[in-house]
Amino acid sequence: MPGYEVIGAEEQAEVDEVFARGGVLFRHGFDALRNDCYKVRDFEVAFAKFMDVPHALAVTSGTSALRVALAVLDLQPTDEVITQSFTFVATAEAIIEARAVPVCCEIDDTFNMDPQDLLARITDCTRAVIVVHMLGTPARLVEIKKICDDRGIVLIEDSAWGCGGSLNGKALGTWGAMGTYSFDFAKTMTTGEGGMVVFNDTAMFERAKAWHDHGHENNPAVPRWEDTRAGSGFNYRMMELQGAVGLAQLRKLPAVVAAQRTNRDAVLAAIADIRGITLRVEPQGSNGTADAVVFNVPDKAAALRCRAALLEQTISTKILPEATTWHFAETWTHMPELVAAHGGTLTEAFPRSRARLEASVSLPVFVNMAADFPSRVASALRASLEK
Ligand SMILES: Cc1ncc(COP(=O)(O)O)c(C=O)c1O
Repeated sequence: MPGYEVIGAEEQAEVDEVFARGGVLFRHGFDALRNDCYKVRDFEVAFAKFMDVPHALAVTSGTSALRVALAVLDLQPTDEVITQSFTFVATAEAIIEARAVPVCCEIDDTFNMDPQDLLARITDCTRAVIVVHMLGTPARLVEIKKICDDRGIVLIEDSAWGCGGSLNGKALGTWGAMGTYSFDFAKTMTTGEGGMVVFNDTAMFERAKAWHDHGHENNPAVPRWEDTRAGSGFNYRMMELQGAVGLAQLRKLPAVVAAQRTNRDAVLAAIADIRGITLRVEPQGSNGTADAVVFNVPDKAAALRCRAALLEQTISTKILPEATTWHFAETWTHMPELVAAHGGTLTEAFPRSRARLEASVSLPVFVNMAADFPSRVASALRASLEK
């Protein structure tokens, strides 16, 4: 599972260094006090290098990363942004915060955006698509990127779960114009709260950098309090202690993901011959983060039986089937903008997604996995599905 499992001395040392070198917790300025210690800046440089992109911008959360990415597009109230029905509420919230129209589409057997349904929902008002790599498995990026490129639609990847994963050797989050990451405490790498936006385009990066900092251009010719600005913005700046923790966590990311893949494979091997399990499909060329093992079972009752049996073994599931209300757009009746965009009701808005999600189970994959975890999982599932 996440970076919190491996948090420790290295993160502590990075934080200690901030205090040892002057204790400046703000990412900008205070040059005379900070002894050249710039953790957020260093984190951005290291992250961009890791992802092999020209620019990265650290922000306060994965939610604000989405908001900052959308701010770059200067969306107008009739502009539509399409995302997928199975995601965390944050993806839709960011679109609503950006004052655009939130549209969701069905998922397919990857449990991510269905390219065919995306095509069906594109209109003349569609400005952007936010594809999500839910629970660490890549979406069908090749197809979705082509659909966007052919129509001049901006592709953004919500890679909150995809940090450290790739498709065809290219890092998740780097396929579109912008990619966003979450470093909350449940993610593959964590800074407690935090996020990152990566960019392939320098002009987009410059706009985002200013917008996330009240419009500050950080003009080197003038002090910050006399700084120049070309537009308004907001404050989503990351602070130095998060940057410090992020530097240590990023160094651990390859080992974390490698351990998850090994442990995922052990779980897959243990459940391979259980009748009634249909594994989530991974697009060809996927190298996901292996955050979870997701599969379909015959029906909703079977999914609930699996969860109950796993809980009896003190094994929790991860989002499916228990947390669809936070992760399935059909249930988000508290978002009037989303309801209006889908004809006034979300009931039956995504029937194929509902059918897939309600008959599914997601198992967490840990970095530090107990040796008997796969066999305990297998016996609980076997008892639920083969009786
Ligand atoms: C798909 C997705 N997008 C965005 C976010 C928001 O990230 P954060 O919790 O850092 O705001 C999450 C958080 O779980 C998520 O799962």
